[in-house]
Amino acid sequence: MQPVPVPALPQGYNFRRVGKEDFQDKNLFKTLSILTTVGDIPEPKFHALIDYWNDRKEIYNPMVITNAENVIIATGMLFVEHKLIHGGGKVGHVEDISVNPSEQGKKLGLIMIRNLIQIAQNEGCYKVILDCDEKNVKFYEKCGMKIEGVEMGYRF
Ligand code: ACO
Repeated sequence: MQPVPVPALPQGYNFRRVGKEDFQDKNLFKTLSILTTVGDIPEPKFHALIDYWNDRKEIYNPMVITNAENVIIATGMLFVEHKLIHGGGKVGHVEDISVNPSEQGKKLGLIMIRNLIQIAQNEGCYKVILDCDEKNVKFYEKCGMKIEGVEMGYRF
């Protein structure tokens, strides 16, 4: 199997896991709020969630890209589902992709997706899937993904 190609980040930019220290400057929250409502997350709740994710590293990969000023400007989550079918196979789910508008158009979204796919490949996933709006289909196609099936939902 060919490893997925991951383009290099611009000088000074980094791809890393979310940590408890990311509560302070709120840049994680600001970047996610471009995608959707983040809501009120007090610091103890944030820390408990980081502990929950870190206790399950084989499942949760909450990742960010920081710029040369060490500010979070892109987010993405790879969630690894451990299945019974396909011989106990694993499926990667891409969630919560967001790039700060001031940094859009620099291939950071694509680099985030390729990094998440690479994590999935290294974890032994047999596929990576995601749900998105019609307007983002071209972006995900540029990342190497293809339309498969139809998204459905049930909201509470
Ligand atoms: N329509 C068509 N092409 C696009 C689009 C689009 N909406 N967005 C990016 N592209 C193209 C770019 O032109 C580029 O093409 P090129 O290689 O020919 O130059 C390629 O896709 C890669 O683009 P990037 O620069 O990596 O994209 P960017 O860093 O701006 O990130 C993203 C794209 C993530 C969609 C960003 O616009 C964003 O954060 N949008 C708001 C939040 C959002 O909708 N997130 C996706 C939610 S779906 C989910 O989370 C599973």
